[in-house]
Amino acid sequence: MKPATAAIRVGQSPEPGHRAVTLPIYQTSTFAWDQIEAEPAIAYTRVANPNRTALESVLAALEGGSHCTAFASGMAAVVAALSLLQAGDHVLIASDIYGGTHRYIEAILPRQGISCTVFDALQPEEIRELAQPTSRMVVFESPSNPLLSVCDIRSICAIAKELDLITLFDNTFASPILQRPLDLGVDIVLHSTTKYISGHSDTVGGALITNNSVYGEAAAEWIKNTGASPSPFDCWLALRGLKTLALRMERHSENAQRVAQWLSQHPLVTQVFYPGLADHPGHALASSQMSGFGGMISFTIGNEAVACKVATSTQIFLLAESLGGVESLIGYPKLMSHGCLTEEQRLERGVTPNLIRLSVGIEDADDLIEDLDQAIRTAIQASTPNRAAHELVEANPSLA
Ligand SMILES: Cc1ncc(COP(=O)(O)O)c(C=O)c1O
Repeated sequence: MKPATAAIRVGQSPEPGHRAVTLPIYQTSTFAWDQIEAEPAIAYTRVANPNRTALESVLAALEGGSHCTAFASGMAAVVAALSLLQAGDHVLIASDIYGGTHRYIEAILPRQGISCTVFDALQPEEIRELAQPTSRMVVFESPSNPLLSVCDIRSICAIAKELDLITLFDNTFASPILQRPLDLGVDIVLHSTTKYISGHSDTVGGALITNNSVYGEAAAEWIKNTGASPSPFDCWLALRGLKTLALRMERHSENAQRVAQWLSQHPLVTQVFYPGLADHPGHALASSQMSGFGGMISFTIGNEAVACKVATSTQIFLLAESLGGVESLIGYPKLMSHGCLTEEQRLERGVTPNLIRLSVGIEDADDLIEDLDQAIRTAIQASTPNRAAHELVEANPSLA
């Protein structure tokens, strides 16, 4: 079954009672037993629930995995995956993974006797150089946040396999429609289903998908023991979102490509980070491991004041955290997604004060471009003391 069909038909046969086409919400904490000797397959919602089971089967089908466990948030899924580590273990983390994952690994894991080293995912050989006898896991993602750099997933997995390291890959930015990391050699795929999977900014969730039964069973056991389970309604919302994922990813990618091309021709925009642009350093690699380039773009403009003014002057793009919803969002990484890092850590990762991040939604691309255009003009007018911008306007009267 192709992904667009699987998202609608896997695990979602009409229920036996009324043959409802859409799976009802099983808003119940417990399920009655037919007989005392045999526990039902689904007995208690912390451990399992029909809405969760349906969501898990669709996600497993889309990622090509045999096991999926859905969680109450992406971070709950991160914590569950890292619970495979034990005191004395060492983990290698890519420098530009999601800030919350970074914070958890650097701040919490050392308290449990687990150490970590940061590596550059664009230099897979660094894994070999930095691995220790106690290393057990490599954590990475692509395209990365916020600079959309693209790492070679196959090479990283090949080195990790040689060194007997588990690979944990966050596929949130691409979604299984655009990238299937298990096919590229990854052991465990992670999602914040809050983002593209649900797609409507109305729920929070996470998931782990794998073909390894030991890791898959450990995730299910973890949720049973910790209660990090999603509610039936949140699973229902994620499953409803999944039905249109293939369509949405196509439109997110088309819109982002148009916006990125427009930005790259704008005289005041200094850099555009989007893997769909032919001059992006990861373009060829992204073309070989993704079937589309997704909806995330970052760009730099002017200085801190100009960037902040742009971010607060859009009318269709909403200034908000998060990504992956149908509505376009604009973010200022320095104070928002990467606000928890030190200035030094931010600059090391290329998060400069003039960087803006866009989550391009599925609205009409003409409206999105017009909105960015007016926001940039507003920012230029407000930055009269910014001579560089002013001089550019003088040289390009069409910008005034
Ligand atoms: C790439 C990525 N992974 C994981 C997470 C964490 O997910 P959640 O917010 O659902 O806990 C986020 C949240 O922004 C994210 O962007």
